[in-house]
Amino acid sequence: MDLVKELEGLIPELEEGLNQSSDLQGLEALRVDFLGRKGRLAKIMARLPELPAAERPQLGQLANTVKQRLTELFDARKNALDAAREAALVARFDAGMPGNMPWKGSLHVVTQVMEELCATFRTLGYDVVSGPEVETDFYNFEALNLPADHPARDMQDTLYIQDKIVLRTHTSPMQARTMLSRKPPLAVVAPGRVYRRDSDLTHTPMFHQVEGLMVDKHVSMADLRGTLTAFMRAVFGPQTRVRFRPSFFPFTEPSAEVDISCVMCGGKGHAHGETCRVCKGTGWVEILGCGMVDPNVFVHVGYDPEEVTGFAFGLGVERIAMLKYGIGDLRMFFENDVRFLAQFA
Ligand code: DAH
Repeated sequence: MDLVKELEGLIPELEEGLNQSSDLQGLEALRVDFLGRKGRLAKIMARLPELPAAERPQLGQLANTVKQRLTELFDARKNALDAAREAALVARFDAGMPGNMPWKGSLHVVTQVMEELCATFRTLGYDVVSGPEVETDFYNFEALNLPADHPARDMQDTLYIQDKIVLRTHTSPMQARTMLSRKPPLAVVAPGRVYRRDSDLTHTPMFHQVEGLMVDKHVSMADLRGTLTAFMRAVFGPQTRVRFRPSFFPFTEPSAEVDISCVMCGGKGHAHGETCRVCKGTGWVEILGCGMVDPNVFVHVGYDPEEVTGFAFGLGVERIAMLKYGIGDLRMFFENDVRFLAQFA
């Protein structure tokens, strides 16, 4: 009886096949080959009608037994493979290994410093205001006593959007905007981005400034000195010394640049027998520009310069952050290297 032999032969053949397949794909191929709808068992069964009717029940029974046995073999092999795979995983698993820490964002160091500067002025009673980065020629220049042919416009390396529309080159346009929308007495700081056509080791096309403006009756240069000295000591520590040097800005008269005693060498000009590289041995570092609001600026916004006086100042936030944290390279602020940023988280 050929069919009986063929049926029984399936068992050792499957055993051999199973022994040789070591992955789930091979196993599945074998299952289809032996037990599938068009598999070998099914093909043998299809030949059942060849037998005399009397032998068929017996063979049917044998076929069932073989099918059961094939299924058992198949399941046993699959279980063994699953178990081996799991054991390999467990062997590789190190319960003592540190887990993946979730990343946590934080404010950029420039944003942090900018907020700290503004917070310091808030405690002095200043409001924080903001305005557009795309600015008109009027606010960026004209109202600040910088008429079209003024040579000081060259200092600014302006990026133009179109004729008379610029990316603001400084936060000073907020002076005019504030004076037009408020009445004195007023005291504001305006933080924000500014843009210049300038890019090298110490300049980036976009950077941050904080502008300050105070207008009232009888505001004097002494108020400016007192305010900025208190501010610098709040930011850089009570030991900080402050000096004012005469300078020029079109929108202030008189104008000054403010230096503080060097944050690196404490004003000595040298450290560990070497010339201080931050102040280049001078003991001072420049920190901001300021002055008494020029009467022409008041006239542009409709204030009476006989009635009110005021002071203004503008500072670069990146510069303050560099001095505060001893950061040597401006470009670090804009590369967004997480290893750098995370130090300020
Ligand atoms: N706007 C100037 C700049 O960007 C900085 C400045 C100087 C602002 C003197 C002022 C000021 O308000 O009084 O270089």
